[in-house]
Amino acid sequence: MSKNIFSTSNITLSKSAVRQNVRFVKKQLADNVLLSAVLKGNAYGHGIKEMVSLFETANVKHLSVFSTQEAAEVCEVKKKSTQVMIMGWMEDEETEWAIENEVEFYVFEMGRFETAVHFAKKHKKKAKIHIEVETGMNRTGFEDSHLKEVIETMQANQEFIDFVGLCTHYAGAESITNYLRVVDQIQKYNEIYELFKENNLVPKRRHTACSAAAMSYPETQMDMVRIGILLYGFWPSQETFIAYQKSNGHGHDGLNRRVKHPLKRVISWRSKIMSVKEVPVGEFVGYGTSYQAAKKMKIATVPVGYAYGFARSLSNQGRLIVNGKRVAVIGTVNMNLMIINVTECKNVSKGDEVIMIGSNGKVNVSVASFSELSNQLNYELLSRLPMDIPRRVVI
Ligand SMILES: Cc1ncc(COP(=O)(O)O)c(C=O)c1O
Repeated sequence: MSKNIFSTSNITLSKSAVRQNVRFVKKQLADNVLLSAVLKGNAYGHGIKEMVSLFETANVKHLSVFSTQEAAEVCEVKKKSTQVMIMGWMEDEETEWAIENEVEFYVFEMGRFETAVHFAKKHKKKAKIHIEVETGMNRTGFEDSHLKEVIETMQANQEFIDFVGLCTHYAGAESITNYLRVVDQIQKYNEIYELFKENNLVPKRRHTACSAAAMSYPETQMDMVRIGILLYGFWPSQETFIAYQKSNGHGHDGLNRRVKHPLKRVISWRSKIMSVKEVPVGEFVGYGTSYQAAKKMKIATVPVGYAYGFARSLSNQGRLIVNGKRVAVIGTVNMNLMIINVTECKNVSKGDEVIMIGSNGKVNVSVASFSELSNQLNYELLSRLPMDIPRRVVI
């Protein structure tokens, strides 16, 4: 963007927060468990390229993405030694690009497998594959009825494949309501692993765990974990956080002093006041009649609306920080802007900073607080942050 053209909002990413979160996650892992940082969804909205180098600086050596497109973005900036894994979408013929670039990828159906073997033969280079198996989520993964064919194809093509991983994904490890389903999945995975072993097919890494599984079901950590949300400084759910607190002194140390929260939010999102005006008592504010001034008010506009990542469902609900005070969104969030109630803010004027996610040192607005209000998960709100908001790394 030209030097004289400004974005309506800005994102900063904290290097020290990434370090702290990586340190915390590694402390939860058993020895020799490899940490793969999940970078899908534009690194949970943080910015994929920026996050690659932040994770590398924090000594993370394995990165997971959803698609070939994301893998290509990572490959543009990553260190040679950092390993990339595609967990989801690839056109079958993109396995050629992955093989040439030594990118690992999931295989969960025969078409992709056969194409991968074809290109591995063509390039005389092994395809680095992770066989994903169905254990009960019913999303992707080879079902039982396909395992015989998978095993035979692997045995017949051993010189063209590098069996890097055997993997699966849990159907909601962040909620106790899914306990029995997750436990059944763990058992099923272990049975399938045994079946592969009996056929002399031993993966280099068994991996099944996301953030919630790694925290709440430590036996799922196996040889590698695929961690997203925790590394960005958020808990997968309140339940996961409370379970952690319960087994860690309820947030207190041995001397009964409150310990600092172990995770630190990486992202801050800020904008500026666009205009300030007064509204007489009884007037409606913004489109329609969803907000009526109960007294004479001072309102301000902020140039961030639902087209810029601030959900419309936060209408009359969202909270922001202006001049150290928490203020409320009033009326409906528009496409390009929102209106906030600054009646209680002294001396507020055009150009003053507005914090949508972050803190001013004392007051804090977190994604968790407003995603609960809007009934969205942290995951959704973060990953919907538009890619073109400028991102800047800070210490
Ligand atoms: C296959 C897979 N592994 C790992 C993750 C990371 O999950 P989390 O962000 O909860 O750690 C995801 C995210 O949904 C995923 O789809």
